[in-house]
Amino acid sequence: MRLIRAKDYNDVSRKAANIIAAQIYLKPDCVLGLATGSSPVGTYKELIAKYEAGDLDFSKVRTVNLDEYVGINHKNPLSYHAFMQEHLFSKVNLRPENVHLPSGNGAADAEAYDKAIHDAGGIDIQLLGIGRNGHIGFNEPADDFTYGTHVVTLTADTIEANARFFKSADEVPRQAVSMGIGNIMAAKCVVLVATGENKAKAVRDTIRGPITPRVPASVLQLHPCCVILTDREAGKLMLEE
Ligand code: F6R
Repeated sequence: MRLIRAKDYNDVSRKAANIIAAQIYLKPDCVLGLATGSSPVGTYKELIAKYEAGDLDFSKVRTVNLDEYVGINHKNPLSYHAFMQEHLFSKVNLRPENVHLPSGNGAADAEAYDKAIHDAGGIDIQLLGIGRNGHIGFNEPADDFTYGTHVVTLTADTIEANARFFKSADEVPRQAVSMGIGNIMAAKCVVLVATGENKAKAVRDTIRGPITPRVPASVLQLHPCCVILTDREAGKLMLEE
């Protein structure tokens, strides 16, 4: 596990985009694992800028997203399908048939999603954000690590954190479909981006804490190719030790 403390959100985004761009140069038909939320938006902006400058070609790239809410229409602007269209897919030359997200239909499609990842040859590089409680994807703190794609009941902390995108916390879906920890650990490389003071404890627990499903990201200590990119605030507790 490698920690890179960048200056700020823009610096984190530029560095994450550089790593992903290098992956696309090395393997034009690579499989990118993608995330939603505030953390990766800057990374997507940087990738779009590289595409617009003629430096990146997504025509052969395949993508698989981490998660989707259950029971939300894909056209709903708050769905992760719509998020990805807005922040990346509609702005680069990714082919629609090459992008994959969990359907959000619940358990029925989870196995099919695992098969789609497997059939694509596995994930070459997985981009992650991290929850304040150490979740990755929607793998919430639990008694056990999950393996494959599964339905998750969101914790009160995650509902509160995601309420900022909805009119109120009441409107946040209570369930999501998420890749499991096994899917994430099977990615050849992982890049986790974390910014802001409210992520500092989760970052420290991930890197320095015991490996436990109570802090799902802590399992990344066992990943052979994992980069954690933080700004000064999210990395600040790593300076004290
Ligand atoms: C999103 C996802 C989540 C987020 C995490 C951080 O696809 O899987 O794990 O990465 O909740 O969210 P932000 O970046 O909004 O702080």
